Amino acid sequence: MSQGEQQDPSKRDFLYIATGAMGAVGVGAVAWPFIDQMNPSASAVALASIEVDISGLETGESMTVMWRGKPVFLRRRTEEEIEMARAVDVSDLPDPLSHNPNSVDGPDGPATDVNRAATDQEDLLVMIGVCTHLGCVPLGTAGDFGGWFCPCHGSHYDTAGRIRLGPAPANLAIPPYSFPSDTTIVIG
Ligand code: FES
Repeated sequence: MSQGEQQDPSKRDFLYIATGAMGAVGVGAVAWPFIDQMNPSASAVALASIEVDISGLETGESMTVMWRGKPVFLRRRTEEEIEMARAVDVSDLPDPLSHNPNSVDGPDGPATDVNRAATDQEDLLVMIGVCTHLGCVPLGTAGDFGGWFCPCHGSHYDTAGRIRLGPAPANLAIPPYSFPSDTTIVIG
């Protein structure tokens, strides 16, 4: 991506805190008190999954949602970004694993672009926005590979969120997710 195509992150990224929460809440009426105490708090259960409306996420746009206290990046990639990611040979990657529990090959499958992107939605990338080095939040559409850049110690991720340069040891992690509809994603 050329410099001219880069957008102001404050306009491009939207912090979206899901107000709707999913997850089974409830303890059987006959449960013993000590069992009840071992259950996670209602708020923790409520945050186990979040449902996000992605109908407004256009090509070239990103959004950030909070899930289990961590930012999750969602990006509808451009054709150019997808092509850049696909042009890379997995054997050249510092971390060759997809880390995508949703892909057909599982998280230990090869870090091809197909395995990193959402199944049947090759333009959509969903990743935990935490640098795999020491946990800073990387910046979007930045760095030497047009993906994400972590300014803390200089880690560059590509347009599939794969580490390409710098001290980070692994590709950005991908959370479990599903699509109850074309315009909705459930993370967690
Ligand atoms: S925390 Fe990202 S490079 Fe160190």
